[in-house]
Amino acid sequence: MVYLVAPCAIGAEKVLANELKQLGFAPSGSAVGRVRFSATPTDARGDSDAGTRVLSSLDGADLAALYRANLRLRTADRVYLEAARFPAPDFDALFEGVRSVPWEHLFPKTVRVLVDKVRTHSSALSSERAIQGVAHKAMYERLGSAWRMTTLPESGIVATVRVYLERNEASVLLDLSGEPLHRRGYRTAGGAAPIRETLAAVLIQLAAWRRKTPLHDAFVGSGTIPIEATLYAHDIAPGLGRSFALESLSFFAGDAGRAAREAERRAATEAIRTDCLVRITGSDRDGACVEAARANAERACAIAGRALQEAGSDRRIPRPDFTQASFEELSAPYPEGLLLSNPPYGERLGDAASALDLYRSMRALWTNFPGWMMGFITSHEGFEDAVGRRATKRKPLKGGNLDTTFYLYAEEAH
Ligand SMILES: C[S@@+](CC[C@H](N)C(=O)[O-])C[C@H]1O[C@@H](n2cnc3c(N)ncnc32)[C@H](O)[C@@H]1O
Repeated sequence: MVYLVAPCAIGAEKVLANELKQLGFAPSGSAVGRVRFSATPTDARGDSDAGTRVLSSLDGADLAALYRANLRLRTADRVYLEAARFPAPDFDALFEGVRSVPWEHLFPKTVRVLVDKVRTHSSALSSERAIQGVAHKAMYERLGSAWRMTTLPESGIVATVRVYLERNEASVLLDLSGEPLHRRGYRTAGGAAPIRETLAAVLIQLAAWRRKTPLHDAFVGSGTIPIEATLYAHDIAPGLGRSFALESLSFFAGDAGRAAREAERRAATEAIRTDCLVRITGSDRDGACVEAARANAERACAIAGRALQEAGSDRRIPRPDFTQASFEELSAPYPEGLLLSNPPYGERLGDAASALDLYRSMRALWTNFPGWMMGFITSHEGFEDAVGRRATKRKPLKGGNLDTTFYLYAEEAH
């Protein structure tokens, strides 16, 4: 059985686990900010949970699953291959465990290995620096002896490894994504404080949004939320416009990897839906933001359009519609819908007091959008008091270094 681990925003583990199930993966446990899952469903192979398949014998179905996880997951920040999991009560055990991985089958001879992050929790080994050094040394020793080299040239790709120690059990994880997955490959126009694409995807799930429901973002900035909703509504794989670190690893670089990649991209393109009515819009008082949102949406939809064209289809993805307006000027274009936004937090944009003033004036939204569900994410703790309404659902979420809460107001609460 091949296991993968996907980190996500803290608080989004359940959303990610559900997404994994929908894609046919089998989640097998979660920790704070990450979910472990098997690359192929247990029943498809008859494998048990007992051992890790030898990494030197990954087959076509495994390769396809590794690529698919990167290509399709919307709410995961990255995808890691669990190269090993073993008890590591001391440094000797850690060294032996890392050295036992057949790294030479995974990397080209010019690789430079980087142990970029170590996390320990309730474990005897606690010095992250020392763990990093030992893991690095064990990998180099293994590679040097397998390739009969005393020093490695390190002139090629960088392979990134992460070590987690949880109650003296080590997980050694190899990064398969490269650039974090929130980089969908469409964004050149940033905007002042964009929300991460992966977090926007989490909000869409927490609001249980369905494509037939109109969606509006009244603080649209660079367009992230409507763009993410558009990808979701049309079943567009978020990774169609980019490549992944996986593609330059030895076990994926040959014909089998190429075939897996092509098959997965073809399947993802065939899954794109253009036969549904989707009403996704956004507005911002800042004209430059509206321009940026339009440009980003254009590129995001063009990526899917190119994939369709390559597959011989001239179907077109409808773009979300953006207008310049302050939220006070808005009125609901449909009797029901979802208003989903991240208004200024008062941290990166403006200060906390002006954010509170803004939230107070947001009370008007409930008058102007009767019958709509509302969802807002902010790090400002005074949000609920300022808008004068208790949320139906409150979800703390931490992506990056910012502690935020998502407030969902179901329409019955009005
Ligand atoms: C945190 S940013 C939104 C970022 C956006 N989600 C993205 O990913 O790029 C907040 C946005 O609210 C806009 N804004 C501030 N006051 C506004 C108002 N009164 N009406 C409409 N938009 C406003 C700002 O111009 C800014 O683009």
